[in-house]
Amino acid sequence: MAHIPYIEGTGRLATLYVDGRPFHIRGGELHNSSASDLRYMEERVWPALRPLRLNGVIAPVYWECLEPEEGVFDFELVDGLIAQARREGVKLVLLWFGLWKNGASTYIPLWAKNDPERFGIVRNAGDRPLGYMGGTWDPTVSPLCRDAVAADARAFAALMAHLRDTDGERTVVMIQAENEIGVVGAARDYSERAEAAFAEEIPAALAETFGVHGTWSEAFGADAAETFMAWHYARAVETIVSAGKAEYPLPVYVNAWLEQAPGVPGTYPSGGPQFKMHRVWRAAAPHVDLYAPDIYVPNFRDVCDEYASDGNPLFIPEARGPVDAVANFLYAVGEHNAMCFAPFGIEDVAGRAEELDPQVLAQLNISPEAMGVAADGARLLGGVYGAVGSMEDVIEKAHREGKIHGFLDNGNASEIIDLENIRLRISYGGPFGGAKHAAGGLVIELGDYELLVLACGCAIEFEAPEHTGMKLDLLRKEEGRFEDGRWVRGRILNGDERYRNTFGKEAQLQRFMFRAYR
Ligand code: DGJ
Repeated sequence: MAHIPYIEGTGRLATLYVDGRPFHIRGGELHNSSASDLRYMEERVWPALRPLRLNGVIAPVYWECLEPEEGVFDFELVDGLIAQARREGVKLVLLWFGLWKNGASTYIPLWAKNDPERFGIVRNAGDRPLGYMGGTWDPTVSPLCRDAVAADARAFAALMAHLRDTDGERTVVMIQAENEIGVVGAARDYSERAEAAFAEEIPAALAETFGVHGTWSEAFGADAAETFMAWHYARAVETIVSAGKAEYPLPVYVNAWLEQAPGVPGTYPSGGPQFKMHRVWRAAAPHVDLYAPDIYVPNFRDVCDEYASDGNPLFIPEARGPVDAVANFLYAVGEHNAMCFAPFGIEDVAGRAEELDPQVLAQLNISPEAMGVAADGARLLGGVYGAVGSMEDVIEKAHREGKIHGFLDNGNASEIIDLENIRLRISYGGPFGGAKHAAGGLVIELGDYELLVLACGCAIEFEAPEHTGMKLDLLRKEEGRFEDGRWVRGRILNGDERYRNTFGKEAQLQRFMFRAYR
């Protein structure tokens, strides 16, 4: 039987192993409700995904469907989804929509919703129960409510035991615990139970991690409310995840709704795994393998750099739609060896399947353009996923040897990358002075004077670094592809194409050979 998927290493060298081989997810996350109906999946979703050349799909498992009556489990949806994924030849990452989804507790079973005594709700400073979405009241169960956390942990453990017993093929490769955790609408829980806990001394693990002591306010001052919630959410997740891993130890991550202006906890989920709370989460939840950003903001690059800056492997379970996806994907792979890249609402890429109401997006702090669909989105994403898939070994080796870099238009007109023997001057802004496309790429040093570039939306000039006093002569430039790990050249670009190295809207793979002379 194949080995259980596992992660080895940290940072850009962290690797997910599936069937004993490195596995990088070139995927997409489904809309929230798609996986609640297997027929909808058959008719609307899988046909839309086929052109995209995905190797992984991120799909929810809903507590309300898994445990319709307390203690009675129904695995029909999970089994059906796994069977469909096997037939399609893709792996699955399952999202455990348990106690929390975008902060609120909308996916808890009806028997739990109807028992507010047992499933205690977060209360705001005015001692009113908290709910945040527009016209609907969406209560948020408090992570300090032990009974609720125990009930979630039992259901999650049942799911993991079922996967252990039925998924010998290892179709499910990772799990997301909950979804975008945190209190929305207040900085913290002010219920009676939370007030008592907030007045206590901070836990020893935090005192040791931060070198502070006293009550939460004494130790963390202005950050006390958010740190308090982060600790309690992370402890709740630790209870849930460790119960699941005791049954079946798949790698588990927790995803973050990013902090955005005005930067006040509660306007984004307070206590979630935002970057600044990683140390708190790590101290409280050792069974969590990594923290994943959901990136709908335009400064994709900064978010990647931040989330990958402390040894945390870069895993992007939700990203802006296909308009930006090609360039963003190349940057995440080239610069950070991303373990996963997945645009959200992936079934929309080949044409809109589900329209998300702009007002709902506003509630979630997502600009409608982040969900934009491109007419040729499926071709562009399928093309770049295919190209990267065919050169996985080359990319893996380049990361191990430190011979690969990513680049991405960050709003600046240009950027410079200095390799050992070659300087790249990259200009963004439409290759032929035409429309501006998403722009970025990756460069791999194959040898001292030999490069591979996979890029879109930019033009690149190559020169010898000034200090060498050398000049560069372009010996040869080819387009091509990898087949069975071997370079197969296409056209040799030795005519007009020689004078300017442009990369259009579609990701293009080119190989350059130079000679240096004085
Ligand atoms: C982020 C959430 O994690 C997703 O489940 C989804 O609600 C998107 N926002 C918005 O559609």
